[in-house]
Amino acid sequence: MIRTHIADLRAQVGSTVTIAGWVQTLRLQRAMQFVVVRDHTGTVQVTHRRDGGPLEKLLDSLTAESAVRITGVVRDNPVVSLGGLELVPETVVIENLAATPLPIDDRTGPEGRQDWRFLDVRRRPAARLVFEVQTTVEQAMREFAYGSGCTELHTPKLMGTASESGAEVFKVGYFGGQAYLAQSPQFYKQMAIAGGVDRVFEIGPVFRAEPSFTSRHSTEFTGVDVELAWISSVEDVMSFEERMLAHVLAAVAASHGAEIEELFGVSVTVPQVPFPRLTMAEALSITGAAGGSTAGRDDLDPAGERAVSSRIQAETGHEFAFVTEYPASVRPFYHLRPDGQPHLTASFDLLWKGLEITTGAQREHRYDVLLAQAAEKGLAPEPMRSYLDCFRYGCPPHGGFGLGLGRLLMVLLGLDSIRDATFLFRGPNRLVP
Ligand code: 4AD
Ligand code: MG
Repeated sequence: MIRTHIADLRAQVGSTVTIAGWVQTLRLQRAMQFVVVRDHTGTVQVTHRRDGGPLEKLLDSLTAESAVRITGVVRDNPVVSLGGLELVPETVVIENLAATPLPIDDRTGPEGRQDWRFLDVRRRPAARLVFEVQTTVEQAMREFAYGSGCTELHTPKLMGTASESGAEVFKVGYFGGQAYLAQSPQFYKQMAIAGGVDRVFEIGPVFRAEPSFTSRHSTEFTGVDVELAWISSVEDVMSFEERMLAHVLAAVAASHGAEIEELFGVSVTVPQVPFPRLTMAEALSITGAAGGSTAGRDDLDPAGERAVSSRIQAETGHEFAFVTEYPASVRPFYHLRPDGQPHLTASFDLLWKGLEITTGAQREHRYDVLLAQAAEKGLAPEPMRSYLDCFRYGCPPHGGFGLGLGRLLMVLLGLDSIRDATFLFRGPNRLVP
């Protein structure tokens, strides 16, 4: 029997169809048995008048969340509150009877929902919408990247030495020796640039051994990385990213705008390009004005990011802001420093509604300068020899960015935590399920 999605039943009034889904609620009355069945497209009432037959017995044995396949006639019935439709069953197959009681209900807190994430996701359409939106976001990102001449790569997540820095890196056993989980595809996407790939695109896992218990940190997340060769300046990188995000948000608004408004109360705005830009020095003067202290500080803390975003939004009406010219002291050794300004970097963070969703930069591609900057940060060249060698045999100027997919979804849907933007969250206290 062909399966009919519940959302398509209206067109089948009078026909016999088969639906497949889960028992959402059961009302077993003296004369009537009502079963509301849910699939991923909607819910429908199954209505059966007791007749002492085998079907009645089967329906009496049902439990909430059991997986069922029901064949019956679709009837128009204005009295039914669920869309004025009902299914009058002819056969019921219980594919998997759910145990009772269910381990979660509508009052379960966030940790309990994480413990029983499959039930949480199954029971809440909003939880599932997150992944439908994520699918559209990734598709639109790929569309834009491919259309802009990018090649999609998959760089290794097992590394022989820690990428970028020794901190925040997971060590794993490796055949009696040791390996590290990649904190970023940074070095490898630059290696691809040295390999003559003109524009690199990757969506892949990123691991951070940060003992952070915030709503925006996870120990494993999905990173979106871009690296562009032969750029004139970091401006080319920002321009790529803002056009990519405008394309992504147009796709999300078109496919899910109404549903996002309904389930999350957020209206998706397609941003104008270019996004506003301000330097870190300007940003710090805003946070100073907003009551924070700028004394001895050269980076934005989360409160500072929120202050900068609200100022920009108030002044320009824009939800995004690029903060540029980060001091070299708070940036990695491989960020390029503008000519004559060795204390600054040609780098940026992108803030969206007060949250950092991206860090990017033009990279230092001159071997000698790169070595000197590594030494200045106290990094020995030998462990990263294979990276440094990329800059000895003709590496073009290049730059790129890394964007956290969970952060983007969190802001897009107005979620309280990155936990809700991730199918299975990973944090310092969460390795299960
Ligand atoms: O800012 P990050 O650490 O930058 C880099 O990894 C650079 N290699 C990128 C580059 O090309 N220069 O990470 C990039 C983004 C952040 O802006 C944030 O959105 C996300 O990744 N991110 C996290 N998301 C969830 N949990 C964490 N612990 C994250 N750390 C960073
Ligand atoms: Mg960053």
